[in-house]
Amino acid sequence: MSDLAFAVLRALADGRFHSGEAIGQNLGCSRTLIWQAVHTIESDFDLTVYSVRGQGYKLSQPYEWLDVPSIRHGLASESAEVWTVAVADQVDSTNTQLMVHATSDGLHGLVLATERQTAGKGRLGRRWHARLGTCLMFSILWRFDRGIAELAGLSLAVGLALARVLRQLGAPVELKWPNDLQLHGRKLAGILIELSGDALGPAAVVIGIGINLHTPAEIDQPVAALSDCGIEISRNALLALLLNELHEVLSSFNQHGFAQFGKEWMSLSSHQDTPVRLSFSHGDPIDGIARGVAENGALLVDTPDGRRVFHVGEVSLRRME
Ligand code: BTN
Repeated sequence: MSDLAFAVLRALADGRFHSGEAIGQNLGCSRTLIWQAVHTIESDFDLTVYSVRGQGYKLSQPYEWLDVPSIRHGLASESAEVWTVAVADQVDSTNTQLMVHATSDGLHGLVLATERQTAGKGRLGRRWHARLGTCLMFSILWRFDRGIAELAGLSLAVGLALARVLRQLGAPVELKWPNDLQLHGRKLAGILIELSGDALGPAAVVIGIGINLHTPAEIDQPVAALSDCGIEISRNALLALLLNELHEVLSSFNQHGFAQFGKEWMSLSSHQDTPVRLSFSHGDPIDGIARGVAENGALLVDTPDGRRVFHVGEVSLRRME
């Protein structure tokens, strides 16, 4: 039913009334099937569809689709040479899809953006949920000359690329180690990096990014959206801006590593010199004062036992009130 629901959503995307009969004729199916698809759009996609006798169906507001030509239109010429952009109505997870390409001969610079994920993944085994049309979700496949061992600060560098773009748009975002973006202390965006390759040899990396544009799905922590600070931008335009910046940052990271970004990253850190609690999948939490990041992106924390260094991995960080 999802395929038909997406086809009907396309027919309704302009936000005007369309009769069930006309949609059915165009799609070659009965009015009853169209009615069922509208039901799916409401129940599964969480969108509001008005149904008015004699006029047909109408979305409560127009729907802007992810669209490859619109995305490419916003790419700078150098970055356009690198990115191969694809969009899908629905996938399990853009990261899962690109990991298949990463382990075969998938193209460096492949981008997959989607309207909907049925099994979106977050860090530390969590799920990533998003209501249709409210979140920009995409993954990119990037091949590094550096081995996995040298990619420790990568998620911080990616966060910085996103922060640069969002701050230019007027969102006062901050970076929460290792790879969240926050707006007014609430989670605005997340990054999930998955790796394939050898410790020393070339590495293929899938970088998955989710950014809330409108009222996000509730999770286990306070969440934010770009609309909270009055920013309304099309997902296509935003994706192009992000790809331009990611092209710059990933190319520099491949050449020079994370150290070049350390100072700028710390200037945007949400937890610099504040009390924090670090939690681990095993063992007791550790409290201390966050003191910035090392040259490889590891977090420096002053604890009662002295300064300790935490590497990106199975650690999660919370501010202590
Ligand atoms: C996190 O904050 O825990 C990371 C969230 C990453 C979500 C994005 S959405 C696009 C890509 N595909 C996934 O399955 N996850 C990432």
